[in-house]
Amino acid sequence: MIMQTTLTDSVEEAAAILNSGGVVAFPTETVYGLGAGICHSEALLKLFRAKGRPSDNPLIVHIGSIGQVAEVAAEVNVQAERLIESFFPGPLTLVLKKNPSVPYSVTAGLETVGVRCPANPIAREFLRLACCPVAAPSANLSGLPSATSWEAVYEDLAGKIDCLLRGKPSTIGLESTIVDCSGTKPILLRAGAITLEQLREVVPEITTIAVSEAEERPKCPGLKYPHYAPRASIVLCTEVEKIDLKESSAAYIGMSEPPQGIFLHKVCLTLEEYGRELFGFFRLCDTEGIGVIYCELPSDEGLGRAIRDRLMRAAGLA
Ligand code: TXA
Ligand code: MG
Repeated sequence: MIMQTTLTDSVEEAAAILNSGGVVAFPTETVYGLGAGICHSEALLKLFRAKGRPSDNPLIVHIGSIGQVAEVAAEVNVQAERLIESFFPGPLTLVLKKNPSVPYSVTAGLETVGVRCPANPIAREFLRLACCPVAAPSANLSGLPSATSWEAVYEDLAGKIDCLLRGKPSTIGLESTIVDCSGTKPILLRAGAITLEQLREVVPEITTIAVSEAEERPKCPGLKYPHYAPRASIVLCTEVEKIDLKESSAAYIGMSEPPQGIFLHKVCLTLEEYGRELFGFFRLCDTEGIGVIYCELPSDEGLGRAIRDRLMRAAGLA
């Protein structure tokens, strides 16, 4: 079904559309989100349909202020409390025991819920004007790279959603860090801009999920689906100078100098820039009809962990 998508810069207009049961894309500092009020069951259905998202993949619930955590979660243990104090609002999602008010269509039948309070001022204002907490996956078609600009959202979802609230490009460009605090030991489920090192300064006992364990029992249901994949194939590399170009339509992104003869490239000066530019570059490569994208793998430290994770998934290796 094709619907009219309202493009707007007005937070009030976007919130009014959400509050009347609409599906609204909005900017956050990580990536753009595609929101539906958790009190609007029809809107939630429409959201899954618009993205082509499997219904067994739970959504993160977004709130406009820290005080709203209790509206969404049933229990906040001491580790979660410390993480909230240090990193909310910001690029962190906590998985907590769910409050009965959160419908199972949002949590995909789980007794837990992902909760995030974004820092982006437009997102916060939008969430403050929303009449209930807002379930929002990344605002892209399922499987494609997340959208880090309103233009990317428009490309994927125009005609499928009620409204697109335009904002600036996302400053981080990678989805939030996810920590599961619903059990006895907190577990890092998805790496992001809040790094493992930063998390451990606050909660030293945080563990990472072993790959073998993740395969048996995915704790983060969405991670079993293909992700972030452009149409071009992805080749990961650690020694850029050894790249032997076989394709004329090749592209490169990384922090080292690009290989000779490359058609399109993006050299990033910092890991922050690499994270911010990655998904936009993937989309640009698809527009340009690139066949292969060479991506330099950063080391596993700090923000490098999150970039590596997205690159491995885009390459189909994780
Ligand atoms: O930065 C972000 O997190 C963005 C912005 C819009 O907030 N959102 C985002 O949502 O990346 P999405 O749906 O693309 O990814 C959410 C991930 C999925 O892999 C999902 O399986 C996982 O979070 N998730 C959600 N609720 C969960 C839960 N209760 N337990 C475990 N994993 C959960
Ligand atoms: Mg996503």
